[in-house]
Amino acid sequence: MSEGAVKKEEKPRKFQAIRGTRDLLPPETALWTRVEQTAHEVFATFGFGEIRPPVFEPTDLFARAVGGETDIVSKEMYTFVDRSEKLEPQPSIGSMDVFLEQVKRLSKSGELPQDEIDLELVEKQWKKVDGLLQGISKIEAGSTEIYTLIMLFEALRLGGDVSLRPEATASVCRAYIEHNMQQLPQPVKLYYMGPMFRRERPQKGRYRQFYQIGAEILGGPDAPAIDAELIEMLMTFFGKLGLEGTTLDINSIGHAADNCRRGYVRKLKAELEKVKDKLGADSQRRIETNPLRVLDSKLEHEQAIVEQLPRIADNLCDDCKMHYAAVKRELALRDVAYRENWRLVRGLDYYMRTTFEITARGLGSQNAVCGGGRYDGLVQLLGGPPTKGIGFAIGEDRLILSLEESGKVPAAPGPDVYIAWMGQNAYATAIRAARALRNAGLRVELPATELKFGKALERASKLGSRFALILGDNEVADGQWTLKTLRDGSQQKLTEPALLEYLLKP
Ligand code: HAM
Repeated sequence: MSEGAVKKEEKPRKFQAIRGTRDLLPPETALWTRVEQTAHEVFATFGFGEIRPPVFEPTDLFARAVGGETDIVSKEMYTFVDRSEKLEPQPSIGSMDVFLEQVKRLSKSGELPQDEIDLELVEKQWKKVDGLLQGISKIEAGSTEIYTLIMLFEALRLGGDVSLRPEATASVCRAYIEHNMQQLPQPVKLYYMGPMFRRERPQKGRYRQFYQIGAEILGGPDAPAIDAELIEMLMTFFGKLGLEGTTLDINSIGHAADNCRRGYVRKLKAELEKVKDKLGADSQRRIETNPLRVLDSKLEHEQAIVEQLPRIADNLCDDCKMHYAAVKRELALRDVAYRENWRLVRGLDYYMRTTFEITARGLGSQNAVCGGGRYDGLVQLLGGPPTKGIGFAIGEDRLILSLEESGKVPAAPGPDVYIAWMGQNAYATAIRAARALRNAGLRVELPATELKFGKALERASKLGSRFALILGDNEVADGQWTLKTLRDGSQQKLTEPALLEYLLKP
């Protein structure tokens, strides 16, 4: 086939970002940077240090921490088998014998997780299929044999089960345990920022790769002042960014004991059973899997029903009741305005006592910019020592959306100086000038090819440059450079040092 024919037939595929993911581009990325910089600054003033955990972890970590029955773990995780690098990438029929030998060897040496796999059965099945393949005509008759082999094969665990992180609290707790942070002065205060992954239905403010800025306090006491100061830090951060129309909702969901949340959930379940027929399919399912989540319902026709359900505040044990009352007092001491919301239960299993959520303006139905709460049992659940914990995560994408909706976007800055040069002598001077100006912190555009001055000035205006530095042979020869102020078109002649001084003048 001639080269031309190839080109015609194979039009290169146009790639697009995967649904639910997106490119963040300038000038918007300048706002992302400002938000992140502000987080670094504000969190440091509250004594937090940054942690950067990996973006993938063993699937079991999230299942254990967030909860196997939650939407996040049961439906939304990006999970894959991290195949041993010692295995052939894709075994073909011809190399099946070799491949099975490899699997056998690696599973014997413990490099493959072969706990429940019957490798012998796979081998036996392969021998049957191999026999069929010898007499090609029998293949059709043997299709169930081949199908069985494929099924057995898929059941082979050829590596560890890992997931892209849907959230980072589990990772931070894992790191706390792994690095023996309980030996540091307590509590340990950590924050993080970065991408999270959930396979949700994309819509405004909801993405499959989204970004969180979060903070966790681990260890030390469970003093209500800790809950309140963490929330104060959040509100300080939002205040610094000028985020408008925020509402802080708080609640206490008690702790897992018969005289507290467990007892309440039983009561709630009994009440829900009575009204089951009037509820939608999702809520009906949740009566069994997680009755608390029914309180989260956004369905119009369920609202009146939910309002009649027993409330958790009336069913907390004395300790949890006192803790909640003290959190509210501590918030008031810090002038943090809040709204009590008895239906705020959150969608992750690790919470106990204080839960909170913050909504902001301009976000439509996905209006929660931040969620968090206390999770005292989590470190222990992950194999660590009994440890108190509390934290939050801000949805950075939503925070940015809300700031944009209220016009809090910094204007994209154009260059300070556009250097219009003509002639080889002038070019060398232009390169030197660009370096000096950039070293002084100015934004400089130096065209890579020679342009007529008229064209160059046109480009400078289009880019929104403040000044154009005009360098031709005359300017270079007499050391007097021409600086044009593009706003009013005025021009002046300056020596190199005078130019720097003029441009750096506030
Ligand atoms: P979360 O409520 O699942 O909590 O998420 C926190 C925030 O992340 C949400 O309020 C929302 O702003 C943002 N978010 C969640 N999913 C998406 C999405 N698909 N697209 C865009 N933004 C999203 C947690 O993740 C907990 N780890 C928070 C925490 C930390 N609790 C204690 N410590």
